[in-house]
Amino acid sequence: MNILVINGPNLNLLGERDQEIYGDNTLDELMMWLETSPEGSNHNFKFYQSNHEGVIIDSIHDERQWAQGMIINAGALSHYSYSIRDAISSAKIPTVEVHLSDIMNREDFRKTSVLKGVCVNQVYGMGKQSYIEGLRILNGNQ
Ligand code: DQA
Repeated sequence: MNILVINGPNLNLLGERDQEIYGDNTLDELMMWLETSPEGSNHNFKFYQSNHEGVIIDSIHDERQWAQGMIINAGALSHYSYSIRDAISSAKIPTVEVHLSDIMNREDFRKTSVLKGVCVNQVYGMGKQSYIEGLRILNGNQ
């Protein structure tokens, strides 16, 4: 499967940002680990990270013909970006929304996801394992 992995705002700072919440892996380490995991074998990956909503939307548009599955951690944009929601539903790529942290047990604003309704599933609170779980869900969705 061709899998698009999108990471949104502030995830470029993984490894130095709130390590007690997000762990100590850098984003590059985490993406490499995902790509080389047993669940990742037999897949082709493309990785994008941006701190800008429009760039994330452009990436989804650009890869909509290539991608057969998408894992997205849109960071805080998950909680309020209707434009990213529309991009996911327009692209019609089976998508899993993932979060490293347990968004249900943090500040109230994190409990809402505007992306959830257009994704096949939502995974949170498993640290980097959330991404593997996202892959498992896409594997089962084939
Ligand atoms: C996050 C959770 C979001 O609330 C936060 O804004 C992030 C990271 C996570 O992976 O746990 O940037 O998406």
